[in-house]
Amino acid sequence: MSVSVVAPTYQEADNIQTLATRIRAAMEAAQLDWELILADDGSRDGSEELALELGRSLPVRFHVRRARPRDLSQSVLEGIGLARFDRLVVMDADLSHPPEQIPDLLAALGDDTAMALGSRYSPGGRIDGPWGRYRTLNSRVAIWLTRPLARCADPMSGFFAVDRRRLPAPDELAPVGFKIGLELIVRGGLRVREVPIRFDERHGGTSKLTWRQQLAFLRHLFRLYRFRFGLPVRLLSFGVVGATGLIVDTAVYLGLQAVGLGHLLARFLSFWPAVTWNWRMNRVLTFDDRPPARAVRQWTRFALASTVGMATNVGSYAALTSFVEPFMARPLLALFAGVAIGSAANFGIATRFVYRRRRPAPGDE
Ligand code: GDD
Ligand code: MN
Repeated sequence: MSVSVVAPTYQEADNIQTLATRIRAAMEAAQLDWELILADDGSRDGSEELALELGRSLPVRFHVRRARPRDLSQSVLEGIGLARFDRLVVMDADLSHPPEQIPDLLAALGDDTAMALGSRYSPGGRIDGPWGRYRTLNSRVAIWLTRPLARCADPMSGFFAVDRRRLPAPDELAPVGFKIGLELIVRGGLRVREVPIRFDERHGGTSKLTWRQQLAFLRHLFRLYRFRFGLPVRLLSFGVVGATGLIVDTAVYLGLQAVGLGHLLARFLSFWPAVTWNWRMNRVLTFDDRPPARAVRQWTRFALASTVGMATNVGSYAALTSFVEPFMARPLLALFAGVAIGSAANFGIATRFVYRRRRPAPGDE
């Protein structure tokens, strides 16, 4: 049997030699044919030279991803694309994940198990080394956040075996950051079996898990929630963006008056930065799974959608307070109803005509 091991690396020159030799020992003991693909992101720390040198005597390959910004998950996907074998193991290169446990993971793959997940938190799993309170809490909170997506003890693990033939197509995947395993589980709907592992302290080098990565994780989670729950998540996102837009609107409105503009002019002007803010936030968040569109054109469409939304909002208010019994005596209720109706109109137009699903074929318009 054979296995392709894919290890994402960023400045792991201190570790790749030990990694390769420990994998070799483990694979020889288990009589497995193997290759190691180092999925690098342009480390420039001597890793490449070292890997080429190792490649003379061992089946070690070095792949450098060119796209920026660097990204662990995307590197892993590129590595998977290059693998010679269908049975894959993904693991960190810093020796946190013991190569000796690769055979255990592979043994757990089967007809009813598309992924074997190395788990720190299932019975028998453990963490070696001094994990501070913060890191432990952080890990627990992150797992808790994934509960609605994956019922695993350790869904964040970066140590797993998968059968490539059962993975979703690359264009169905959109991971960002460290949690490539979670991405595959959720989007692939993979049946997972957890295998207890020992998680060691990294050997050399330093961790790349920065606050930036924590933010990337939240973004990744958002995408996965949207994938799993669809419309409600998109609506919620649109609503939250709208609320932040209201803050922009109010701030500009007050600011302009503070520098001497009249309130009507201030009201008219503050609409535009708010619309621009909303357009941009929905572009990078709510609808970031939609195909890219030219900014100016999309902005114009969004501004139109917002204008229609605003008109619907005020129009509903006027209609409700004039003609609909329960609202006639309760204008505040009509105001909220108007906001809801106007936002719905805005959302409807945005989802259909502003952030369009795919580009229409030439001649469609
Ligand atoms: N190609 C590439 N690009 N590799 C990267 C990048 C990147 O931008 N950032 C980090 N890596 C590589 C590192 O070189 C290492 O081999 C591996 O990815 C994990 O990075 P670490 O910096 O060691 O992360 P960690 O130990 O904090 O996180 C690990 O444990 C977490 C659970 O505590 C990862 O396995 C996470 O996926 C896991 O959730
Ligand atoms: Mn690590």
